[in-house]
Amino acid sequence: MIIEPRTRGFICLTSHPTGCAQNVQNQIDYIRQRPTENGPKNVLVIGASTGFGLASRITSAYGSKASTIGVFFEKPPTKGRPASPGWYNSAAFEKQAHKDGLYAKSINGDAFSNEIKTQTLELIKEDLGKIDMLIYSLASPVRTHPDTGERFKSVLKPIGDTFTNNTVDFHTGEVKEISIEPSSDDDIENTIAVMGGEDWQMWIDLLKSENVLAEDFKTVAYSYIGPSLTEAVYRKGTIGAAKDDLEATAFKITDSLKEINGKGYVSVNKALVTQASSAIPVIPLYISLLYKVMKEEGLHEGCIEQIERLFNERLYAEDLQLDDAGRIRIDDWEMRDDIQAKVLKLWQEATTETLPNIGDLEGYKNDFFNLFGFNVDGVNYDKDVDEIVAIPGLQE
Ligand code: NAI
Repeated sequence: MIIEPRTRGFICLTSHPTGCAQNVQNQIDYIRQRPTENGPKNVLVIGASTGFGLASRITSAYGSKASTIGVFFEKPPTKGRPASPGWYNSAAFEKQAHKDGLYAKSINGDAFSNEIKTQTLELIKEDLGKIDMLIYSLASPVRTHPDTGERFKSVLKPIGDTFTNNTVDFHTGEVKEISIEPSSDDDIENTIAVMGGEDWQMWIDLLKSENVLAEDFKTVAYSYIGPSLTEAVYRKGTIGAAKDDLEATAFKITDSLKEINGKGYVSVNKALVTQASSAIPVIPLYISLLYKVMKEEGLHEGCIEQIERLFNERLYAEDLQLDDAGRIRIDDWEMRDDIQAKVLKLWQEATTETLPNIGDLEGYKNDFFNLFGFNVDGVNYDKDVDEIVAIPGLQE
């Protein structure tokens, strides 16, 4: 079939297998040029199909030849209906990995559930014995608690006061003011239940109790801080409360892994266009200004550049360069004073009329469509493509 983008708000309902495969190939090529002896060998990535998780899987496999198991929640294709992009990404990754002699298998299902945890555990036992790294890169709007069956929904709201600021509809380029009402106490608790650290800890507890974590095991989850501009709705909002909980969990995990000298870390990453971040109000305007400034300064990075730097210059380097709160900071370039001062100045000037010049709206849009395999250089979108694509190492 011929597949074209069909968008609704901040989601795209279709995705393109060839474009997704090309994106994956570009990331593989980037890491291939930066091989290392000094990386993980047996890696479990939770949230492995898109964004930072996919980049972590590729960096592990192609940086230090790691065997990887990927867990994700993606929609398979049916006749006439393309899969979600993470499906095509994972298919492309595994196809290439197998060709290159790398072990790669995947599990598609709800990582919050006991069933998927048990299935993953069995696969580790059977195929890898032990893992030396677990990347926790889930971004989900909902979670059903595996023990109580309670369903939690996360929300993106400020805590305390109504938040009013500008945002952009990146499809139309319209800059307009939005107001978001403050959260209730339930909203905060629900968001912590979805995006906080409980599920990460559950994974670690299970894998530890079954003795599949290797000596010196490391685990990393991803967090975000961002500028004062977005603070009320992000870091000091409901999602920030969940990130506080996630960050606190890293220390608890380290404490619980003393016998094997295991370590839990949080890495604070840069703001990037992903399916998760395009859903957050205000962030698209911030990102389009940030991209402009960082590209001009030669400091722009995508997920793969960020994760390569995380692995090679922090996690597997001499010095993790932790901040005062014990976090790894690969948002260091985004948060530089000079970069933030420029973004803040542009923010005050940003209107529907000025944004195309002072911001990188085109870069934002392009990255958004790229997530779904569209607008990818070198792909012929007029060519008929088979929407039914299998993931070779997918476990049933
Ligand atoms: P993403 O939307 O690209 O990836 C989410 C992944 O989670 C996908 O692999 C998806 O299949 C998987 N997933 C979602 N629900 C699942 C479930 N129930 N069971 C199994 N898998 C599930 O998101 P992104 O942006 O890469 O986010 C990953 C982490 O990085 C999040 O914690 C996010 O807060 C953090 N982060 C994101 C930043 C950004 O600007 N995008 C910046 C800094 C941190």
